[in-house]
Amino acid sequence: MGIIKDRFKEKADALATEIKSILQEHGNKVIGEVQLSQIYQGMRGMTGLVTETSLLDAQDGIRFRGYSIPELKEKLPAAEGGSEPLPEGLFYLMLVGELPSEDDVQHLTAVWQRRSHVPNHVFATIEALPIATHPMTQFVVAVMALQTESQFAKRYASGLSKKDYWNPVFDDTMDLIARLPRIAAYIYRRKYKNGDHIQPNGLLDWAGNFAHMLGYADDEFKDLMRLYMTIHADHEGGNVSAHTTHLVGSALSDPYLSYAAGMNGLAGPLHGLANQEVIKWIFEMREELNEECPSKEQITAYVKQTLSGGKVVPGYGHAVLRKTDPRFTAQMEFGKKYMPDDQLVKTVWNVYEAVPPVLQTVGKIKNPWPNVDAHSGALLVHYGMVEYEFYTVLFAVSRALGVLASLCWDRALGYPLERPKSVSTEQVRKWLKGEDEIWGE
Ligand SMILES: CC(C)(COP(=O)(O)OP(=O)(O)OC[C@H]1O[C@@H](n2cnc3c(N)ncnc32)[C@H](O)[C@@H]1OP(=O)(O)O)[C@@H](O)C(=O)NCCC(=O)NCCS
Repeated sequence: MGIIKDRFKEKADALATEIKSILQEHGNKVIGEVQLSQIYQGMRGMTGLVTETSLLDAQDGIRFRGYSIPELKEKLPAAEGGSEPLPEGLFYLMLVGELPSEDDVQHLTAVWQRRSHVPNHVFATIEALPIATHPMTQFVVAVMALQTESQFAKRYASGLSKKDYWNPVFDDTMDLIARLPRIAAYIYRRKYKNGDHIQPNGLLDWAGNFAHMLGYADDEFKDLMRLYMTIHADHEGGNVSAHTTHLVGSALSDPYLSYAAGMNGLAGPLHGLANQEVIKWIFEMREELNEECPSKEQITAYVKQTLSGGKVVPGYGHAVLRKTDPRFTAQMEFGKKYMPDDQLVKTVWNVYEAVPPVLQTVGKIKNPWPNVDAHSGALLVHYGMVEYEFYTVLFAVSRALGVLASLCWDRALGYPLERPKSVSTEQVRKWLKGEDEIWGE
């Protein structure tokens, strides 16, 4: 652990110095203007955050420290016998800002194996919940129960200098990431496999071991988990889960509290829960049409029906992206390689052909193209994971990599409490009449 921690600290100190001089020289430069509509409409297009780990381009999609998903597939180390990148490598890249060596990745695998012990009270807490509880609720409750282990909370309580905040936040980050697969797998086996739990395999990588504990021995599924954990990890800083983790962390809530808060946001249907909504929507469509692989024409009619019912077409659209999500494409390539004849996967591809032209005719929808959630479920169903209520938990385990790497940066760079100004409509009315200013202080 020492080596990665030291490298991170060296990079963070260098960036902190650079940011200080950037702000001294350019701190009063104006970077944009805010229109009234933006503060009523979810702050779309308003730059208001700094996130180092990844950057989203509306046309090209996500880049992690400058690398696109196809580039990462080439440049990040893969598991022995596997062909997808190891998420350990992506985490290293987001945290340190450089591509890892094979040794760096193996080192992280070993650290996370060593730190993966989950105390019994966490399992007891999960067991206290009714079995019908949504897996995301069980997951967040378990993370909250695990908060007893926070080193940041303990050290803060006993008096911690501001310049050392980053250190226990870094340790909590490593501990939490190490423990999440065990917690998630426990919830899955509890809810869907009669509590028949599977012990971790200390010889496997982080995602491979996760697949094993979920109960999927197939090597292809392990590779799918590596890909899944890599592509869902981060999507710059403004999405609900990343922004929430960052915001709550800015109150110096420890990484367990901050991550749990972010994951409550991921559990919303317009964010991470969309992955379960997509497969539910496809299953319902197949049932209603009584067709295993509906045609483009049938799907087009069904999409129109969804829209006329006042519902969103899950898996399509994005607040920032304006093209097909490269995370969708990466999954499509996986499907073409391993399961080109799977009827459900084919349906996802037919949906991809049918939906955008319909959404384009609606007019108000800014992005008619698929996002990451449009594809993931069908790949999981192929290997037998049909319990779609669990899918957002997989997303949550992956998202820990990005939001927690960012939290380490937040504390290492000494970022302050986040506290934007809000206004009331009453004040807006006065401002429109010229009776008051709209900005505070
Ligand atoms: C992701 C999402 C929340 C982005 O929202 P946004 O930034 O407000 O998107 P837009 O600016 O294009 O929205 C404009 C209008 O089109 C609607 N719209 C956007 N995507 C839509 C979709 N897939 N189906 C139906 N309507 C959609 C919005 O609900 C909004 O309607 P309103 O003005 O009546 O409120 C939205 O596209 C959506 O709900 N998609 C489906 C859920 C999903 O896949 N979420 C996962 C995202 S990774």
